[in-house]
Parts: sequence; structure tokens; C-alpha cells
Amino acid sequence: MNEPLKLGVAGLGTVGLGLVNLLRANADLITARAGRPIEVTAVSARDRSRDRGVDFSGLDWHGDAVALATSPKVDVVVELMGGADGPARGLVEAALRAGKPVVTANKALLATHGAALAKLAEAQGVPLAYEAAVAGGIPAIKALREGLAGNRISRVAGILNGTCNYILTEMRLKGLPFETVLSTAQELGYAEADPAFDIDGVDAAHKLAILAALAFGHQVDLAAIHVEGIRRVSALDIALAGELGYRIKLLGIASREEGGVTARVHPCMVPAGSPIASVDGVFNAVLAEGDAVGRVVLQGRGAGAGPTASAVVADLVDIARGRFAPVWGAATDTLDAAPGLPMERHRGAYYLRLMVLDQPGVIADVTGALRDARISLESMLQRGRAPGEAVPVVMVTHECEEGQMQAALARIAGLASVVEPPAMIRIEVL
Ligand SMILES: NC(=O)c1ccc[n+]([C@@H]2O[C@H](COP(=O)([O-])OP(=O)(O)OC[C@H]3O[C@@H](n4cnc5c(N)ncnc54)[C@H](OP(=O)(O)O)[C@@H]3O)[C@@H](O)[C@H]2O)c1
Repeated sequence: MNEPLKLGVAGLGTVGLGLVNLLRANADLITARAGRPIEVTAVSARDRSRDRGVDFSGLDWHGDAVALATSPKVDVVVELMGGADGPARGLVEAALRAGKPVVTANKALLATHGAALAKLAEAQGVPLAYEAAVAGGIPAIKALREGLAGNRISRVAGILNGTCNYILTEMRLKGLPFETVLSTAQELGYAEADPAFDIDGVDAAHKLAILAALAFGHQVDLAAIHVEGIRRVSALDIALAGELGYRIKLLGIASREEGGVTARVHPCMVPAGSPIASVDGVFNAVLAEGDAVGRVVLQGRGAGAGPTASAVVADLVDIARGRFAPVWGAATDTLDAAPGLPMERHRGAYYLRLMVLDQPGVIADVTGALRDARISLESMLQRGRAPGEAVPVVMVTHECEEGQMQAALARIAGLASVVEPPAMIRIEVL
């Protein structure tokens, strides 16, 4: 029997406990695939007294997670605490400096400090693996970095946050407002007590920064991502989108445009028949388009103990077998450091929904603002008649630049007959 691979696991929450349980439950087949047993020898968490429903006897306990980096009983450090800085960053840096491979599920850390950490891992000649950091159980990192290595990628996109996807799905199916569904999601444990990180798009942006770096061979660049969340998506717009043949999803999208790459997270209208439109509830999806392969779509569970532990074990099996790829798919000095394109350069079609007073001349004012911004309309729909009162008017534009749309929106919002800020949702053909 080959020597076991000894793990120091920092963080015994959802993912950490999921990992310990999966390694025990599937020990035989994991040993066969890894060519050696993979065993947890040391652990760290904040509260030693908490009953976690798992037997830790015989394992070293470290109150200070960073101590795992230098423990002689640890071959590989598994960081499952979370946080872009603090002990997670301290532990990962210390482990790499000590020449120990690191596996982490921490997208915040990688999106924020991934460039420096990749340099450190490269200098030390050790793997820094993070399959679990993006889309949980979906093997998106391996697919992009290894499976699609022969392709020039034109676009990578995904439903990258299960909380948002759950909320948007429930709003559509039940016709409920955002706040009501958010409260239910919190009760069910699908949303945090402070949901801002998820619903404002920050978590999806972390994941998109990672996917974009891999897809386009550039430095991970969180600051270049345009981020909007789902707070302003209304049940009315979800219903109207449905009538037009679309579904509303929070997507992270990075695409190669003329002159560079745009990366953005925002609610999108996608055709109801597209593969990504039917990915509902807490499920995630990742889509990539390559010049040789065409379109590839992966979907599955993006979070939870089992799916995330599944991804961590995949990295551990690679490490046990001595397989590893550069952190961002290529040597760090070959990565493109050019800044991403600003959001104003995004091109696409737009959905607009205005609440306008039902009186003569209103539509002419709105279409005049669009005409002056050189935006043409594909279709228009007015709902109901209520002379003197506000009624919804929906417009779908032909493709234009974001800058043009923002100029038109500013004009439209200032019209006396438009009674609330216009709702705008970008249309994405996937
Ligand atoms: N949950 C998911 O489905 C999921 C999916 C993909 C990626 N991730 C990522 O996986 C990581 C862990 O997430 P999680 O959901 O498992 O978090 P969690 O349930 O909150 O668990 C965090 C664990 O880290 C421990 N910890 C926190 N600070 C520590 C410190 N200073 N020293 C030692 N231990 C410390 C906590 O200890 P105590 O238990 O004693 O408080 C807890 O056991 C995060 O980076 C997250 O983004 C999670």
C-alpha cells in the first residue's frame, strides 16, 4: 500500500464536514483513484467544543489554522474557512511558502489575491487547486483549463449563484415579489441572514473573475467586472419577459469583444428555449463557447456539503497522483494584464419597461429619446388602458451600445409622463 496523503483541514463548517464525511464514505474508491489513501490527520476550527456529529478522535486539533502549514503531519493544506483576507489568506500563503500543495473552495480569496497567490505557487512549484470555488460540484475549472485547452474561448457565462437563481425561479413560478421570496429563502437556509453578498452579485462576480481569467488567459481582475444584483427585478418584469418568450436569470458573462474582454454580472433576459433558461432553483450552470468545440454547457449543484466536497476531492486525487496545472492555466508571465473593456462598450439588445401616464404624446417622447441615442426598436407592447393613470409600456430594442442606452435612459427618466424609474434588462442570446 502506498503512503497515505495526509490532509490538514482548516474549517469544519458545511464544506469541511462534507469533505471529512465524503473521504470516509467513499474511502475505497477514492484510494483506488488516487493510488493511495487520502486521510485527514489534522483539523482546525474556531470552536473546539461544538458537537459537529463527526468523530475527530486521533486527529490533531489546531486552534491556530496557520499552524497546519508547518505541521509535519500535514502534506496538503485544505482551506475551507472562507474570507478574502485574515486567516484564510495567512494559511494559504504560509502553506505555499512551506512548499505544501493547497486546495481551497475560497472564491473571494482567489478573485481578490489570485494573481499574487499564483505567482507564489509557481515560484514554489506547488499546486494551488480550487475546483470547489466556482459552481460547487460542477467541474467547471477542469473543463475550462484542461478539457477546452485547445480552444480560443469567445464567451464564458453562467448561473453562478444558487441563492439568486432560487429567488428568481420562485418569483416566476409563484408570481411573488422579491422581498417575500427572499424571506422564504432565508427561512429555508438558501439565503444568509445578511444576503447582500449573494443578491448584490458580489459572489457571482468572484466566480466570474476566476472563470474569465481561465477562459481568456488574463490576470484575475475583480475590479474590471461590472456588477448589478437582483434587488430591482420585479415580478411584473418576470411575467412580461415570459410573455415575450424570455426568462430572467442573474448571469455572469465574460466575452471577447473587439479590443478586449468585457466581464459583467447582472440580470439578463435569455430566450426561454436556451439550455440555461431551464436551469432553475438552486442549480448552477456554466457555459463556454470555443472556436473548435462550439458550445459546452455544464449544470449541477453549485453549493452544499456533498457537491462542494466532491470538487475538493477531485483536486485531492489530482494532487495524490502528482497531476497539476498552472493556477490560471498558463505560466503567470504569459497572462495578459491589459485592463478589461468598460461596460459602456457592451453591445446587445435591451428590454425596457416604463410606467407612463396614459395620455397623448407620451410614446412619441420616449421614442424620440431612443431615436436621438440612435437606438431602434424591435417591438413595443402597451398593457391596458387607463386614461390619465400609469400603465406599463414594454419596448425591446435592436442591438446597441450600453453607452447609447444609458444616455437614452437618462432622458426617458426625466420625462414628466414617465412616473417611475425605467426598468432595463439586457437581453443575452445564449
Ligand atoms: N457552503 C457551500 O456550499 C460552499 C460552496 C462553494 C464554496 N464554498 C466556500 O467554502 C468555504 C467554506 O464555506 P462553508 O460554507 O463551509 O463555511 P462555514 O460553514 O461558515 O464554515 C466555516 C468554518 O471555518 C471555521 N473558521 C472560521 N474562522 C476560522 C479561524 N480563524 N480559524 C479556524 N477556523 C475558522 C469555522 O469554525 P467554527 O465552526 O468553529 O465556527 C467553520 O468551521 C468558503 O470559502 C465558501 O465560500 C462554500
